[in-house]
Amino acid sequence: MDVLEEAELKDSLSKQGYCYLTNLPDNFDFAAQMRTFGPLLKQYAGEIVRDISVDPSIPDDVVTPYNRSELTPHTEWYEFSAVPPRYVALLGKQAAAGEGGETTLADGYEMLAEFSHPRRSELFSATPTWTSQGLAREGVAHESRHPVLSKVDDHLIVRFSTRELHSSDDLVLEYIKLGVDFFRRKHIAIKIDRHALLLWDNWRMLHSRRAFSDSGRHLQRILIGSRSSSSVSADGLAI
Ligand SMILES: [Fe+2]
Repeated sequence: MDVLEEAELKDSLSKQGYCYLTNLPDNFDFAAQMRTFGPLLKQYAGEIVRDISVDPSIPDDVVTPYNRSELTPHTEWYEFSAVPPRYVALLGKQAAAGEGGETTLADGYEMLAEFSHPRRSELFSATPTWTSQGLAREGVAHESRHPVLSKVDDHLIVRFSTRELHSSDDLVLEYIKLGVDFFRRKHIAIKIDRHALLLWDNWRMLHSRRAFSDSGRHLQRILIGSRSSSSVSADGLAI
């Protein structure tokens, strides 16, 4: 990425919440380039670059990134109370042949503008329960309580999970319902090509994935922390 491209990417990120770059060179250094956006965070096994590919031992009726199932809308790291990664980056190594496999995105800030619940401001203080069944594969059983909305240095952080945000509060239940409906109406879908990069603002965007049939689909993921706050890796250590 040259200086001009980097400036264009940052402009797209702030205007629309994501950017998509294709035809990257063979020698594209994923980690080095992403470091220009912020500190890179360790993921579940301590790795910086995580492979997202199909594990044939996981049935497709399990909802996990590591099979061919459809995922449901969420933000990354919703299950942790610490400040979530600022950006998520996916690099295409091999797109799914045939139908499906697109990464889908919708603007969480736009979603909130539709949230007319009279107690909307309580989303900053109510503390629903978040679980992470998806981490069972990593040997992690996790549950925590923290608000849906928060702020860091005047930046609004939206957290969302369709399946793992739990509450009996009508405020939170309406938020989940609106999020699912908004995502269905407003998402965009990008099938990440080989040598292409999809980068989005994880404090703002909800994301998901369409089901697919090609077991050869392969992406790599990097999580990028915020320069202005204390981001936390999967092992709970501030970096
Ligand atoms: Fe995700």
